[in-house]
Amino acid sequence: AIDPQFHENRDQVDEHEGHSVWGPVDEPEELGIHGTHVAVDFDICLADGACVEDCPVDVFEWIDTPGHPESEEKADPANEVQCIDCMLCVDVCPVDAIDVDAG
Ligand code: SF4
Ligand code: F3S
Ligand code: ZN
Repeated sequence: AIDPQFHENRDQVDEHEGHSVWGPVDEPEELGIHGTHVAVDFDICLADGACVEDCPVDVFEWIDTPGHPESEEKADPANEVQCIDCMLCVDVCPVDAIDVDAG
């Protein structure tokens, strides 16, 4: 499961489409965590898609991650600023790849 303390335990190493990327990153096998308020551990995500389908405000967008051992697509929290903290994505992800900091 994603580490809910990732912002303390990891370093912000990059930005992607306006959100942070938390390392370590070693492409293409190791991709880190994308997002801060809505955080997706790309190294755990196996492209189930429930989060993409169920988010009521379309926070997630698919991105291609060729060569990653778990899956070659990831749910990117591209619109994390629109999150309404419903926690649905956290509940439906089968591998607990998502952390939402509802404060
Ligand atoms: Fe979407 Fe709700 Fe998840 Fe926020 S908590 S990203 S609104 S499903
Ligand atoms: Fe990935 Fe979990 Fe969504 S596996 S696509 S973060 S439901
Ligand atoms: Zn991203």
